[in-house]
Amino acid sequence: MRCDVWWARPAPATPRLLALLDDAERERYGNYRREIDQLRFLTGRTLLRAVAARHLGVEPEAVILDASCYDCGKPHGKPRVVAERAPEVSISHSGDRVALAMVDGVPVGVDVEEIRDAEVDELARITFTAEERAAFGRVPEAGLRAAFFTYWARKEAVVKATGKGMSVPMSTFTLSAHDAPPAVLASETPEVDPATTRMADLDPGPDYRASLAVFGTETPQVTERSADQLVADLG
Ligand SMILES: CC(C)(COP(=O)(O)OP(=O)(O)OC[C@H]1O[C@@H](n2cnc3c(N)ncnc32)[C@H](O)[C@@H]1OP(=O)(O)O)[C@@H](O)C(=O)NCCC(=O)NCCS
Repeated sequence: MRCDVWWARPAPATPRLLALLDDAERERYGNYRREIDQLRFLTGRTLLRAVAARHLGVEPEAVILDASCYDCGKPHGKPRVVAERAPEVSISHSGDRVALAMVDGVPVGVDVEEIRDAEVDELARITFTAEERAAFGRVPEAGLRAAFFTYWARKEAVVKATGKGMSVPMSTFTLSAHDAPPAVLASETPEVDPATTRMADLDPGPDYRASLAVFGTETPQVTERSADQLVADLG
């Protein structure tokens, strides 16, 4: 199964990009207090419109998105392209990376994480299963943060594929070790089935970790490309 991933850097807020947002997106954009959060949001949604437009053979302004939360219905959930034969999509952003994953026919989740200061031991205690904590405990001190964010990006990709995000606790499924190919080894939640979850690590560049999960039986053949020009061409 083919899976496309686009990487962009947060783009300047040009009038043309802002005009592509719908009313709910414009409200969310205005509610972000930090400019960088606004730009990551703007870049993710306009990149999604640009890529979906190509896929559907329409103009970017004709792409309709629905990001209704599965739980409360507010427009802060996983975005969905509203169209016949719409592809499945997932967005993630961290630092100066914005990722968009797109695949036909199966749910997808993508996550990118900047390797940063964090209480990794405490976070691992809360979010890792006993097997994962045991594997993490064997990582040398110098590699702890990178190993932690490898796990974290993989786990978040999986929960994002469900469409429910972190409301599916990360501690309910066990992943392979950070230095092994990504896979779900066991699960206690019906939301995540090891038999039908396929994963791939992505290449976000130094100081980042990123991963992708699809719910299907075919391994995704991932193509990663830069989307900076695509976003710039929007105007
Ligand atoms: C989705 C979630 C995992 C994002 O984590 P994060 O590390 O802060 O951010 P990321 O950049 O990796 O991902 C954010 C993107 O995930 C997508 N997203 C939002 N909700 C999602 C969900 N439930 N499932 C999958 N993807 C989701 C959106 O595209 C969002 O970016 P955008 O709004 O700019 O388009 C986290 O916010 C979450 O779990 N949210 C839902 C939790 C919940 O229970 N909500 C119910 C409240 S009523």
